[in-house]
Amino acid sequence: MKTQVVIIGAGPSGLLLGQLLHNAGIENIILERVTPDYVLGRIRAGVLEEGFVDMVREAGVAERMDLEGLPHGGFQIAFNDELRRIDLHKYSQGKQVVVYGQTEITADLMEARTDSGAESLYEVGNVSIHDVTEDSPYVLYEKDGEELRIDCDYVAGCDGFHGVSRQTIPESVRTEYEKIYHVGWLGVLSDTPPIDDELIYGISEKGFFLCSMRSKTRSRYYVDVSLDEKVEDWSDERFWKELGNRLPESVRDNLVTGPSLEKSIAPLRSFVCEPMQYGRLFLVGDAAHIVPPTGAKGLNLASSDVNYLYRIMLKVFKENRPEATEQYSTLCLRRIWHAERFSWWMTSMLHNLGDGFERRIMESQLDYYTGTEEGLKVIAKQYVGLPYEEVE
Ligand code: APR
Ligand code: PHB
Repeated sequence: MKTQVVIIGAGPSGLLLGQLLHNAGIENIILERVTPDYVLGRIRAGVLEEGFVDMVREAGVAERMDLEGLPHGGFQIAFNDELRRIDLHKYSQGKQVVVYGQTEITADLMEARTDSGAESLYEVGNVSIHDVTEDSPYVLYEKDGEELRIDCDYVAGCDGFHGVSRQTIPESVRTEYEKIYHVGWLGVLSDTPPIDDELIYGISEKGFFLCSMRSKTRSRYYVDVSLDEKVEDWSDERFWKELGNRLPESVRDNLVTGPSLEKSIAPLRSFVCEPMQYGRLFLVGDAAHIVPPTGAKGLNLASSDVNYLYRIMLKVFKENRPEATEQYSTLCLRRIWHAERFSWWMTSMLHNLGDGFERRIMESQLDYYTGTEEGLKVIAKQYVGLPYEEVE
């Protein structure tokens, strides 16, 4: 087989990139290790920056998101039993975020891919990437017991943190930066109305909490837990009690509890791999970077990488400018490090990670950044997402 771009991974990065390239007449094949249902079973965040929303619109897959997504012009931060509002409209020149689950986006993109007739191969094994520093790379994979080969011009590694793409870049070429936080988020999804119209991030004596949502009837809540905790030890009752204990009094009574649809613990991690390009191979999304979820930047960073790679591929294939690929890593990494810093900072300000001294510093930061015009601007502008740069 032969194609222009082999995309490894059918998560949001791979599917969005695939759709954009296909619409532009750039042929691509997606290779995914698991089944579509397995991909759709993963519960992830769902706060979309304008940049992401625009990309989904550009890909022509925005119909349901535009109908069902909930625009949010602000969110709240709770500390010392008090709620402070971050007015996103006011402090980021009218911008906002849209709450629409990653699962829904992924489902919409999968459906569009099927309708487009572009090739996606699910349940493929042993993907390996070859000759990316030559002019004619190829990808090997196994399907139904057979070993197959696709020749291509470029490979997009959209295969998440545990994929093969990053490992294909020799260790002597790549540098990995990592920070582990020694806590996890215990999350519960339930068909109950959200506690508030807006998201509430908070810190109490007992720890961090986040009240989020998927729709007006489906809520997503989190509390932070130590990494030795096991999800089996958290009955629904225990979770609701713990969350209730962390909420400010003024909203506690609004909490509607119900059976959990999903419950899981996700460890917090910051990670960046540099560079994100090796010859004709590009790392995209979680394959190259991870942020802790405080700030909801994971999916949005994936979309900024897709934005840059897509526009570079247009230059390569439509303007015959192969040298355009050289800017990929630099463009992506500038935005990624800003989001890494923001996510790390929000995490350190909203989790009890240190001693009494650090706790006081957190309070001081929270007070300053949620209580002054300059501080509110800093949070709002980064929460709605920094703009994408031009591709040359
Ligand atoms: N071969 C083929 N597919 C693979 C391989 C492999 N060796 N390894 C992983 N994959 C697939 C996974 O099964 C998964 O479906 O790649 C996909 C990667 O998807 P994600 O992990 O969702 O990564 P990405 O598309 O970059 O999305 C980033 O999703 O992970 C969240 O928090 C993250 O919101 C962010 C966004
Ligand atoms: C979520 O709804 O799952 C969510 C929202 C905001 C975050 C993280 C997760 O910062």
